[in-house]
Amino acid sequence: MANPTPKPIPTFILHLILCCCFCSSLVMGATYNVVSFGAKSDGKTDSTTAFLNAWAKACASTNPSSVYVPQGRFLLRSATFGGQCHNKAITFTIDGTLMAPSDYRVIGNAGNWLHFQSVNGVSIRGGVLDGQGTALWSCKNSGKGNCPIGATTLAFTNSNNIAISGLTSLNSQMFHIVLNGCQNVKMQGVKVIADGNSPNTDGIHVQMSSYVTILNSKIRTGDDCISIGPGTTNLWIENIACGPGHGISIGSLGKVSREAGVQNVTVKTVTFTGTQNGVRIKTWGRPSDGFVRNVLFQDAIMVNVENPVIIDQNYCPDNKGCPGQASGVKVSDVTYQDIHGTSATQVAVKFDCSSKYPCSRIRLEDVKLTYKNQRALSSCNHADGAALGSVQPESCF
Ligand SMILES: *[C@@H]1O[C@H](CO)[C@@H](O)[C@H](O)[C@H]1NC(C)=O
Repeated sequence: MANPTPKPIPTFILHLILCCCFCSSLVMGATYNVVSFGAKSDGKTDSTTAFLNAWAKACASTNPSSVYVPQGRFLLRSATFGGQCHNKAITFTIDGTLMAPSDYRVIGNAGNWLHFQSVNGVSIRGGVLDGQGTALWSCKNSGKGNCPIGATTLAFTNSNNIAISGLTSLNSQMFHIVLNGCQNVKMQGVKVIADGNSPNTDGIHVQMSSYVTILNSKIRTGDDCISIGPGTTNLWIENIACGPGHGISIGSLGKVSREAGVQNVTVKTVTFTGTQNGVRIKTWGRPSDGFVRNVLFQDAIMVNVENPVIIDQNYCPDNKGCPGQASGVKVSDVTYQDIHGTSATQVAVKFDCSSKYPCSRIRLEDVKLTYKNQRALSSCNHADGAALGSVQPESCF
C-alpha cells in the first residue's frame, strides 16, 4: 500500500487558531508601557508620575490590563497604586530596574516606597526593585541618631488575589516586602538581597493576612528572612534558602494586650545558612490575649545556625514594661519534624516559654542537630511536649 500523502491542515483549524489569538488578545486587554507615559530609563529622571498614570489607565480598564516596564533603570519616589480598579486582573510586567532616590531622606519617612493599596487581582512579574538603602544603614549603624526610619520597598495592604513572581528586591531601606491585611497571595521565585549587617531589612513580612503562599525563594538579608506578625492564618512557606539573616520568625507577638493570633502555619523545606535563628517563635514578656497554634516546621537544614530551634517568650528589650516577664501569648501545637544540621552554639533546641501560659503540645520528631564535636543540648522552661522517633539533642520535656 502506498504511503498516504500528508493532508494539509484544514482551513477551519487555521481560522480557529487565528481567532483564538485574536480573542485572547481582546481578553488580555491593553498594555500600558510606562515609557509611553513619559518614564525615562536613564535612572535619573523622576518617573513616578508616568508610572502612576500608566497604572491609572490599567486600573480604569474594564478588561484585564497590564502595565509594562521595559529594560533600563527607572527612578521612582514613593508611589501608591490604589484600587478600586475596574477589572480584577492587572499584570505589572517589569523587565527593568526600579530605583529609589539615592538620597534616603526623600522616601525615608514615607512608610512605603511602592505601595499597592486595596487592590484585587494584581500580579507582579519579574523586575528588580533597588531600595538604595546602604547609606541609611550606615546612618543607623553609626549610632549618631537622626536617621529616618526608612521605607518598606514593596507593600500590599488590604488587597486580595495577589501574585508576585520572579521579583528581586535589593538593598531595601527597611523591610523588603510586606503583606498587611491581604487574602490569597502567592509569591514565588522571589529574591531578596541585602547585607548581613543591614538593620531591619526583613525579607518578607506577613501580618493580618490569610492564605499566603511563599515558594521557591532566596532571601539574604540583615534581619528576619520571613517574619510572621499578628493575625496571620493559613500561611504556607516552602523551599526557601535563608541566610544571612535572622531566620524565619513567628513574632515578635504580644507587644499589645489585645492582639489577633497566628494559626495554621507550615514552614517546609528550608535551608538556613549561617543565620542567627532557624525556626523561631518570639513573644514579648507582657500580658496579651494573642496565641500561636497549629504550626508545622518540617524538613529544615541548619548550617551553622546560632539558635536552630527556639521559642523565646521573654523578649523585653531594655527590660522595660514587662511586669513579671510573663507573656500572655499561648503557644500550642507546634511540631518540628525532620530538622537536621549544625548549631553554632551548644544549646541547639531552646524552649523558653511563658511562666503563666506554658507552651503545650510541642512535638519533636526526627531531629538531629549537632554542635561542633561536642554534645548539643536542649533547654526547656515551662514547655510541655513529646519527642518521637530519633531526637538529638535529647529532648528536655
Ligand atoms: C486552620 O486549619 C484547620 C484545619 O485545616 C481549619 O479547620 C481551620 O479553619 C483553620 N483556621 C483558620 C483560622 O483558618
